[in-house]
Amino acid sequence: MSSMRALVTGISGQDGAYLARFLLGKGYEVYGTYRRLSTPNFWRLQYLDIFEQVDLIPADLVDAASIMEAINISEPDEVYHLAAQSFVGASFEQPVGAGEITGLGVTRVLEAVRAINPRIRLYQASTSELYGKGNSDYQCEDTPFRPSSPYAAAKLYGYWVTRIYREGYSIFACNGILFNHESPLRGLEFVTRKISNGVAKIALGLETEMRLGNLEARRDWGYAPEYVESMWLMLQQRDPDDYVVSTGETHSVKEFAQRAFEVVGLDWEQYTKVDKRFLRPLDVEHLQGDCTKAREGLGWSPKVKFGELVKIMVDEDLGRWQRWQEGQRFPWDAPNYPSENRILSRTFALDR
Ligand code: NAP
Ligand code: GDD
Repeated sequence: MSSMRALVTGISGQDGAYLARFLLGKGYEVYGTYRRLSTPNFWRLQYLDIFEQVDLIPADLVDAASIMEAINISEPDEVYHLAAQSFVGASFEQPVGAGEITGLGVTRVLEAVRAINPRIRLYQASTSELYGKGNSDYQCEDTPFRPSSPYAAAKLYGYWVTRIYREGYSIFACNGILFNHESPLRGLEFVTRKISNGVAKIALGLETEMRLGNLEARRDWGYAPEYVESMWLMLQQRDPDDYVVSTGETHSVKEFAQRAFEVVGLDWEQYTKVDKRFLRPLDVEHLQGDCTKAREGLGWSPKVKFGELVKIMVDEDLGRWQRWQEGQRFPWDAPNYPSENRILSRTFALDR
């Protein structure tokens, strides 16, 4: 029997890399789209030691022809549409780009599927950001959406267009409404990795302080390698549907920082400063997911919870910086990333 073929858009991202590894483990032939940047960004695939095992196809979400080409070349049974401009903060700086890439990009992928092979099963990376500001204590599939950023508004469009292609063209398309999921492969712009990297550097004397924005925001943080399994499970069901994927716990950014400093035996308050440059024009204050439907329908449940997640991330960043200081060289993002304090953006500065 020939093996299943999957196309992962955004294979160079956190979820793309973990999903590729998971699918390879299941015996899939894995294809991935990536952007032709002037400096390629494959460190996650190299870090997981799977770079040689996936086939790469250049494609950009703003370019419909390149997406058609990716589907024509890979002839997939399943498409996992993960590519997006995924940093909420950046969507305030580039709101039109958010609509083009994160919103309309979904339609370009769905149109390519419809035109080339409507039997392809499609996963759409929806998000808990759809719920937005001022929502209920727990959020499930029936909770109303109130997007609070250009990113979330674009994702809401993506969510609905996915449902429209499912109902209108009978395409097997699912929305995974995934709550925040983190890992040592998380991008440095996101608060969890910013903290784990910052704490590791402070513990080793490479930095003296950490500057954060809204410490009161609460998130339902899970572990990314587990979350990508839920994507695959959605596409193995008899019928397409939408599912919330979450841990059911919520913790504040402050708690994350506190726990991260505890891992290295330091007091978070001595090193953490609030810097209004990292406040957003609008922020989501509370996310906490109810994943009963995924638990019962997919047999999926989270195993790694908050305390363990923070420790995994801090330990990994600490180990990386220690190895780096000893002269070891390996694929990794942090040494090349400028301090965020060097980035100028009016969106975040509230002195206007
Ligand atoms: P990520 O690490 O930021 O990865 C995003 C991927 O999209 C990267 O491979 C990036 O390529 C690619 N991309 C960006 N703009 C593109 C464009 N114009 N054309 C083609 N590719 C483009 O994000 P992630 O955390 O893995 O998240 C995966 C997906 O799940 C995203 O859609 C995100 O919005 C969604 N999501 C994430 C979470 C979470 O907590 N992680 C929760 C809910 C939903 P480059 O490497 O070239 O930048
Ligand atoms: N990035 C960042 N940097 N966030 C900070 C900082 C900081 O210095 N200080 C406080 N925060 C707060 C943000 O204001 C937000 O309330 C919270 O920390 C989480 O921010 P991010 O880690 O950037 O993630 P996010 O929740 O906005 O978005 C992530 O999760 C979504 C799912 O809910 C992304 O992965 C999205 O792509 C995803 O859809």
